[in-house]
Amino acid sequence: MKICIVYESKFGNGKGCMEYLQGVMSKKDHDVKMFSVREIEPTSLPLADLYIFSSPTQIGSPAGKMKKFLKKLEILQKDAKYVLVVTHLNPRANTLEKMERLLLSKEISRVTEGLMIKVTGMKGPLESGYEEKLDTFAEDILKAIE
Ligand SMILES: Cc1cc2nc3c(=O)[nH]c(=O)nc-3n(C[C@H](O)[C@H](O)[C@H](O)COP(=O)(O)O)c2cc1C
Repeated sequence: MKICIVYESKFGNGKGCMEYLQGVMSKKDHDVKMFSVREIEPTSLPLADLYIFSSPTQIGSPAGKMKKFLKKLEILQKDAKYVLVVTHLNPRANTLEKMERLLLSKEISRVTEGLMIKVTGMKGPLESGYEEKLDTFAEDILKAIE
């Protein structure tokens, strides 16, 4: 399966999660391409079966760059699917719902519920056990798609 990850990450925590997820999926023989939201246009993503969008929570919302990116997103792949990952400090953050709302009008459908990963301080580090969360998340995604 072709997978395309697009992430925003101010302090590197979300980026680390996406690198980990890329490693997990690649080991299962999937072709995973990964981009920072800062280096790719929302209208020129490579064709992929699954898109993974990852953002920190900032001021109760997805990071501004990710919000803009999702608003302008154009997906050319037919039957494209997506999943979301969010990092956050506050357990009540509803960033996933806000990202999903931005994708409602797009030609892309959700595969599984998104994943929230906590940071233990503003700049990190990530909560302990985040790798296991990502392992389970990867398994759930692949079960739902294959
Ligand atoms: C300007 C700013 C605002 C933030 N606001 C929130 C917030 O409202 N709720 C929350 O849970 N975390 C908030 N955070 C913490 C971020 O979620 C945390 O820094 C981020 O998840 C770390 O991931 P990253 O290293 O990939 O950027 C904020 C961080 C910054 C820099």
